Amino acid sequence: IMKKLSTAAAAASVAALAFAAPAYAKNFKIAVGDSGGSSQEATGLGFVKALEELSGGKHTATLFLNGQLGSEQDTVNDAAIGTLDMSLLAINNITPFSPSVGVFTLPYVILSLEDAETLTQGPIGQELTENTINDAGVRIIAWTYTGFRRLTNSKKPVTSVADLEGLVIRVPKNEIMIDTYKAWGISPTPMAWSETFAGLQTKVVDGQDNPYTTINAMKFYEVQKYVTNIRYIFSIEPLIISESVFQELSAEDQNIVLEAGKAATAASAQFLRDKEAEIKQILLDKGMQIDDPENGEQEFIDLATAAVWPKFYESIGGVDKLNAVLAAIGRDPV
Ligand code: MLT
Repeated sequence: IMKKLSTAAAAASVAALAFAAPAYAKNFKIAVGDSGGSSQEATGLGFVKALEELSGGKHTATLFLNGQLGSEQDTVNDAAIGTLDMSLLAINNITPFSPSVGVFTLPYVILSLEDAETLTQGPIGQELTENTINDAGVRIIAWTYTGFRRLTNSKKPVTSVADLEGLVIRVPKNEIMIDTYKAWGISPTPMAWSETFAGLQTKVVDGQDNPYTTINAMKFYEVQKYVTNIRYIFSIEPLIISESVFQELSAEDQNIVLEAGKAATAASAQFLRDKEAEIKQILLDKGMQIDDPENGEQEFIDLATAAVWPKFYESIGGVDKLNAVLAAIGRDPV
């Protein structure tokens, strides 16, 4: 009798649950490349909050910080085959799978947060989203704005291109970034993000570049001393969803996910506006030395744009694509 009763009770409660939440509830797994306190986390938390609110508590999402679910580039593969729901990662780590997003990684194209917002939230961002679906099986649903990638190293102040000589700099496995350092006269070391802290700590590499917020969240001040305020890349870090996971959702749930993504994008911009200056001060307090490049960075700019832009016209979809980007942010065409 007990057994019958409890089966009936279980059936009743399942029925009640089904009545309250007609479709199945999702707990999206989100891989996050960076640790707590990062702008990636700010986007992730913004997404979770909006998703729960917009779905009336039906859906939620869980962040797996600090590369727990694998290197950023590996998570793109995992999302593409649908074994991972979502990933938050730097756009430079998507470029190898969908080369046209490289237009956002070309040195000295994006010169401010406002440029980044205009480009990602306008037709160009939409087009790149479609490209990543076709090329890589992942859909961009939110954008993180992390600020300019600053150069850090453990050895010496760097204010000129010549100062780079003798430094071993880690870069992501990204051709545009590798070629930028080559234009500056050194051959950088490509290394996965998940291995970078250890690489700096064991001095396999002397330096790397990432924004203040990332340097702080990853505690790079423990293993790096000098920061150079270069602005060659404004770091943009999308939240991607596996396209196959997205297609399994109802139209209503797809809409909820996209709207939550917009809220996450807004949360990210707010985080950067509120926190960047504060975080720069934390780095100084931790003992880092922060220098500006000499002559307004002109030598870095001239060498990088002359050598790198033309080399990647083809992979970003033609010189017209770059000109469309430049026009959207009020700059002259090449
Ligand atoms: C990288 O340098 O590989 C990424 O920009 C790191 C990040 O996701 O913060």
